[in-house]
Amino acid sequence: FEVDVKKHIIEEARRLARKYGKIVRGLNEESWNKVLYFVERDLLGYGPINALMEDWNLEDISCDGVNRAIHVWHRKYESIPTNIVFVDREYLREFIIKLAHLGGKHVSAAFPIVDTMLPGRHRLAATFGEEVSPRGSTFTIRKFREKPFSIVELISEGNIDTWTAAYLWLMLENRMTLMIIGGTAAGKTTFLNAIASFIKPGMKIVTIEETAELNLPHVNWVQLISRESYGLGESKLGEISLYDLVRVSLRYRPDYIIVGEIRGAEAFVLFQAMATGHGGLTTFHADSLQNAIRRLMSPPMNISEPYIPMLNIVIYVSRTALPNGTFGRRLRDLWEIEDYGKYRRLVVWDMKNDRHMIVSDSYLLDVLSERLGRDKNDLLDEIARRQIFLLWLKERKILEMKDVARHISMYYNFPEEMYEKAYSDLRRMGIDIDKYVIRRLAPIIKMEKAVAKEAYRPIEKPVAKIEITTRATEKIEKVEKEKVEAEPIKTMPHISLDEIKLLRIVENHGGEIDLKSALNESGLSKESFWKVVSNLRRERLIQTSLMYIDNKPLLGFKLTARGEEFLKRK
Ligand SMILES: Nc1ncnc2c1ncn2[C@@H]1O[C@H](COP(=O)(O)OP(=O)(O)O)[C@@H](O)[C@H]1O
Ligand SMILES: [Mg+2]
Repeated sequence: FEVDVKKHIIEEARRLARKYGKIVRGLNEESWNKVLYFVERDLLGYGPINALMEDWNLEDISCDGVNRAIHVWHRKYESIPTNIVFVDREYLREFIIKLAHLGGKHVSAAFPIVDTMLPGRHRLAATFGEEVSPRGSTFTIRKFREKPFSIVELISEGNIDTWTAAYLWLMLENRMTLMIIGGTAAGKTTFLNAIASFIKPGMKIVTIEETAELNLPHVNWVQLISRESYGLGESKLGEISLYDLVRVSLRYRPDYIIVGEIRGAEAFVLFQAMATGHGGLTTFHADSLQNAIRRLMSPPMNISEPYIPMLNIVIYVSRTALPNGTFGRRLRDLWEIEDYGKYRRLVVWDMKNDRHMIVSDSYLLDVLSERLGRDKNDLLDEIARRQIFLLWLKERKILEMKDVARHISMYYNFPEEMYEKAYSDLRRMGIDIDKYVIRRLAPIIKMEKAVAKEAYRPIEKPVAKIEITTRATEKIEKVEKEKVEAEPIKTMPHISLDEIKLLRIVENHGGEIDLKSALNESGLSKESFWKVVSNLRRERLIQTSLMYIDNKPLLGFKLTARGEEFLKRK
C-alpha cells in the first residue's frame, strides 16, 4: 500500500509539474530528484526529522519548543543536539498535529497532550501550543527497536552475567514473581522483555500495557492494551484502564501476568493475583528498593505489608558510567524478598571492576528446594548447566530473540542433549568452563567481567579478609536472629481475645496456615482480621510466610518461637 501511495504522489507531482511547467522549467534531473525527495519526505515521512527517524542509532528524539535545537539520544554518543531547529511556532504546531494524526490521535487546544504510538511502534508524547508548555509545542519520540534485545545480547553487553541470567531462568520456570525497578529509560522494559523469554514456552502469558512495547516469542500469549477515555475532561467514558485489564486477565487463567509498568491501583490487583499463585512480572519507576516498597504501600497502590513478600525478586537496573569511561546499562542489584522488611541482596554489580558478584546465599533456592523436593546443590548444578548453555549461545553469537527463544525451548525439551552439545562445543573452542561456572555459593563470588575477552579468567579467590568478616557478620546476624526468636517472654504481651483465637487457629494447623483458611476460620471481617494479624506481627508472635500448596505459592502465617512459647504459657 505504501509503495502505491508513493508512486501515486510522484506521478501526481510530475503531472502538476507538467501542468505548471513554467515554474519548474529548467529543472534538471538532479534538481527534480531533490524536489521529489522533499515531497516524499514531507508528505509520507516525518518531514524535518525524517533523517533522524531513519537513523537506527538514535533512541530518542526530542524537541523542547521553538528556537531550541532538537536533541537526540545516540546509542554511542548519548545526548547530542542536532542542527535542526523549529523556528516558527505555527509550523511546529502543524507538525505536532501531523504527528498525532500519524498516531491516530487528535491534538488541539482543548486536548493539548497526546501519548500515542506512531507507525513502526515508535512512541510519541507531545504537547500542543502554549497550553501546557509555554515555550511552544514539544514532543519526544522514543524509537522502537524492531528487534527486541534478547537475553544473550544483554549478556554479551555485560548488562547481566550468565549466572544471574541462569538463576532467573530457574526462578521463572518455577513461577517466581519479579519486579524491575530503575529510572526513566534505564532499560526496565527491555530487561523485562528479555528475561520473559525464559518462561516455559507452553505457559499461558497475559501482558498488560498502556502502549504496546513488549514483544514475546510465546505462542500462548494474550496481549492487552489499555485505552484512554474518549470523554471530555474528567469523564472516564470509554476508558479501559490497566486496573480493568489486570482484573480481566485473571479470567484467562494465566501462568504469568506481565504488567508493562505499574503506576496506580492496578498494582494492588497484581499483588492479589500473585498471592493466589499467578506468576507476575512488572516494572516500576523507583530509584531504590526502599523507595519502591514505600511507594507500593502508599496510595494509590495501597499494598499491605503481608502482600510485600508475594514479590519474590526485585532487580534494580540503571544506566551508569563504566570503568572504561563509556556508559552502559547494568543490573545493579538483585534482592530476594523474604518478608516485609527482610530483603536479601544476592547479586551486586561491582562498579570498579565492571563485574557482577554473588554476595550472599540464596533464600529462594531454599524455598524451591523444599517445594520441588530437590537438593539445593542439585538446583545450583542446574543453574550451572544453564549458565554453560547461555555462555555457549553467547560464544556462538546466537543473539536474535527468535533464535534465542528457539534454543531455550530446545533446552526445556532436551536438557541433557543441549547441555552436552553446549559443553563439548565450548571445550572445542578452548574455553575453560569449569573455572568459569559457579556450582556452590560461597560468601562472595566474583563473576565474569563484562568485557568478553576477560570473561574466562579463573575466578579469583575471595579476598581472605572480606571472607572472614562476611562470615563473622553472618554468624552474628544469625545469633541475633535466634536471640529474637527465642527471646523469653518477660512481660506477657497484651493481646485481645480475637488475637488469641487466631493464634490457636494457627497452632491447630500445625503452626502454619494459609491466609484464606485463617480468614475463614477466624470468622472475622476482613478489616478486623488484618488488624488482628498486624498486632500479632507487631508482637512478633506470628510471621508472614509463603506456603506451597499444590505447587502454588500461597500467602500464609506461621507461629514464631515466641508465639509458641506464648501459647504454652497461656
Ligand atoms: N541493554 C541495552 N542496550 C542498549 N540499549 C538499550 C538497552 N536497554 C534499553 N535500551 C534502549 O534504551 C531505551 C529505553 O529502554 P526501556 O527499556 O524502554 O527503558 P525503561 O522501561 O526503563 O524506560 C530504548 O530505546 C531501548 O532500546
Ligand atoms: Mg518502560
